[in-house]
Amino acid sequence: MSNLPYKIMTRLLNQLIILTLSTSNSLFAVNNKNEIKNVDNHTLSNYSQIRVSHVHLDLTVDFSQKELTGFAALSFEKQTETNTLVLDTKYLLIDRVEDQNEHKLDFNYLEADELLGTPLSIQLNDSCKRVKVFYKTTAKSEALDWLSSNQTAGKNFPFMYTQGQSIFTRSWIPIQDTPGIRVTYSADITVPDGMLAVMSASNPQQTNSSNRYHFEMKQSISPYLIALAVGELSFKSIDERTGVYAEPSMIESCSNELVDMGKMVDEAEKLYGQYDWDRYDVIVLPPSFPFGGMENPRLTFATPTIIAGDRSLVSLIAHELAHSWSGNLVTNATWNDFWLNEGFTVYFERRIMEALYGKDYTDMLALLGFQDLTSEISSLDEDMQKLKLKLNGLHPDDAMSDIAYEKGYFFLRMLEEKKGRAKMDSFLKNYFDDHKFQTITTEEFLAYLDQNLLQGKKDGLMINQWVYQSGLPANCPKVLSNRFVQAEKAVDVFLKKGVDNIVDAAADWSTHEWLHFIKHLPENINKHQLEKLDETFNLSLNGNAEILCVWFLISIKADYKPAFDPMKIFLTKIGRRKFLQPIYEELAKKPANKTWAKQVYEKARDNYHYVSFNTIDGILKD
Ligand code: BES
Ligand code: ZN
Repeated sequence: MSNLPYKIMTRLLNQLIILTLSTSNSLFAVNNKNEIKNVDNHTLSNYSQIRVSHVHLDLTVDFSQKELTGFAALSFEKQTETNTLVLDTKYLLIDRVEDQNEHKLDFNYLEADELLGTPLSIQLNDSCKRVKVFYKTTAKSEALDWLSSNQTAGKNFPFMYTQGQSIFTRSWIPIQDTPGIRVTYSADITVPDGMLAVMSASNPQQTNSSNRYHFEMKQSISPYLIALAVGELSFKSIDERTGVYAEPSMIESCSNELVDMGKMVDEAEKLYGQYDWDRYDVIVLPPSFPFGGMENPRLTFATPTIIAGDRSLVSLIAHELAHSWSGNLVTNATWNDFWLNEGFTVYFERRIMEALYGKDYTDMLALLGFQDLTSEISSLDEDMQKLKLKLNGLHPDDAMSDIAYEKGYFFLRMLEEKKGRAKMDSFLKNYFDDHKFQTITTEEFLAYLDQNLLQGKKDGLMINQWVYQSGLPANCPKVLSNRFVQAEKAVDVFLKKGVDNIVDAAADWSTHEWLHFIKHLPENINKHQLEKLDETFNLSLNGNAEILCVWFLISIKADYKPAFDPMKIFLTKIGRRKFLQPIYEELAKKPANKTWAKQVYEKARDNYHYVSFNTIDGILKD
């Protein structure tokens, strides 16, 4: 009993020591209101004490070793008195660190975290203005996908690209890898003969003989948006400020598919203000790209699965373009605020689509989104159904559900319906303008919303329920699509009268009606019925990846074997996680299918980016 005060004293003292030694943000954040709410728990850097403001990269792309080697020179601004700069790194080999006068600086690694990587702590001297970190990437660097020439369309050159979002930039650049900071950047990239490098920056349009390319990104962006792709690439203009990069054999079909890109930028500007990034180009990557699209500023990275031949999947470009405002100009401060990036972007995307292709068309897209949302809600944990997330200890990619996208969209659509389109549009335009080149939290947005759109009149809008609670509030807008009603009727006719009776109706269906039709086939449909559909419409060999994906899913459920060979080809070629994940999950439900899936995966895994194979490893493990 008598030594209790002593114990308490020692514990307090220990805590004080830990607190003083801690590199976390908390100590310095307390003095500054702005810092506290901006704490991102997916970075181990000390970005609230000292902030990287400019990055210069000098990297050589070595395809034989599959590594990037060189340096990152980082300029910074101190927020508080500190002589330590802590950067995020993951799977990087650091060779040395120098100041601007080429004097070596001491550095050491702090405790590694399996998810967040190994923080690199650099001792700064008083006159230090800039640090140069010499390093190379490793085989484990998660951002990087290295493709052999066999995995490209042209088969002559290898290919590589990076994927930064959400926390992968640290695996190819030592940096404060948080959306809570913004940096400008420049780069010099050396590549092998005959290859072109492009980045989320000012870009070359053709290869040069020096094999070295210079890049500038003068507008400030969050580090997850720094991106690089290197390959045998051609460029084709769409109009004066838009164009497409792709492998030479794909360039015609890609530019033909994306011919409306220029108009999309024009419409987007009419809606929410000037496009602030100069050019808008798209690069169509090889099929291993794990996402549909990635909004790297000035240069959207896209999957070749949008090249359907009939321009039916271009809403993806409208989406990535819309991120030039929501996401790239106004950026979520932490990954818990991810819906501010994606929900706004889906809303903006559908407004662009409506302006270009009409309301009927866009209602189909919104209704497909609504269906995805309700099915997602039925399977997600309650905590993950909220717009504002609490992702402590979780990988932010796990937040990539339809909640941020579609619940976010319907929240904004609800506001539009209640306040009127004109008010909503001027509110959004001002929102982008007032927050451009800044990061924003959910709470800051809600305060801004209250002041500028709601003027204190929040009654009946259920704002808190939308943002902080699970499920869908009762005032969620209803979407009706007459074209989908027709597709549902066709399901009935097919089931009652046979496939011949829907041939006429289906003749002018778009991709979206096909998706709705297949998704509306009853759960208990049998393989003979699928066979009839396949014989008539050749669905197993459809050229559209979205249609193939839902067709394969129903074929697995009904055990319709003729779809399995085409499915194998699909799974081996395409690395887009949105397609792979549901197919492998469905296959994993039956032991025989799971065995088959594992065999396919053994060969296919090498064609996937880390983002995808990490997910599929989880699905197929025993
Ligand atoms: N920014 C996302 C991709 C992303 C999200 C990458 C989270 C890493 C973590 C991109 O804008 C996106 O949403 N892509 C979608 C397409 C879109 C039309 C919904 C995709 O890839 O499917
Ligand atoms: Zn997006």
